[in-house]
Amino acid sequence: MNVVEAIKKRASVRSYLDKPIEDEKLNAVLEASRLAPSAGNRQEWRFVIVREGEVRRKLGEAANGQSFVGEAPVVIVACAVTDGHVMSCGQPCYPIDVAIALDHISLAAVEYGLGTCWIGAFNEKKVKEILGVPDEIRVVELMPLGYPVYKSVKEKSRLPLKRIVKYERW
Ligand SMILES: Cc1cc2nc3c(=O)[nH]c(=O)nc-3n(C[C@H](O)[C@H](O)[C@H](O)COP(=O)(O)O)c2cc1C
Repeated sequence: MNVVEAIKKRASVRSYLDKPIEDEKLNAVLEASRLAPSAGNRQEWRFVIVREGEVRRKLGEAANGQSFVGEAPVVIVACAVTDGHVMSCGQPCYPIDVAIALDHISLAAVEYGLGTCWIGAFNEKKVKEILGVPDEIRVVELMPLGYPVYKSVKEKSRLPLKRIVKYERW
């Protein structure tokens, strides 16, 4: 599968088979995150890989009760070791860098027949308590990973290019 095919095929998966992920596939997906670019090559991302069922269930609760999060065989908890560095453009780099790494994960997952869903609706304090994440570390996103329960493929609901692209000037 090429990258464009993976981009087109990726969709949020909110229903997972009760089937473990092979270690080689999990490692291959994580390797895709390791190769991501980051500002100044800071590589501030850190991932907690949660497979234990009860902990996954608690993460689902901490994700505003989105129980499907804990139903996936793996929950990737994407964290950042950050000094809060802000780029000269005014943007903090850690959420951007972690998001790029997670996007690599979501696309590599497609290659291996796995599904993901970005989870930004969660309580950081609760997630930190569940996993023993130190105070100075930020939890940026959660991402369940698993074999999807296939549903009919829906057309992506997106703005047309002409609404989002301007050429030469704003
Ligand atoms: C930063 C971010 C946070 C998101 N948080 C959630 C979430 O908490 N729960 C959820 O079900 N989907 C979440 N989503 C998924 C979006 O709803 C989804 O990507 C969007 O509707 C487009 O659908 P698609 O991913 O199937 O293409 C999130 C997506 C992003 C990028």
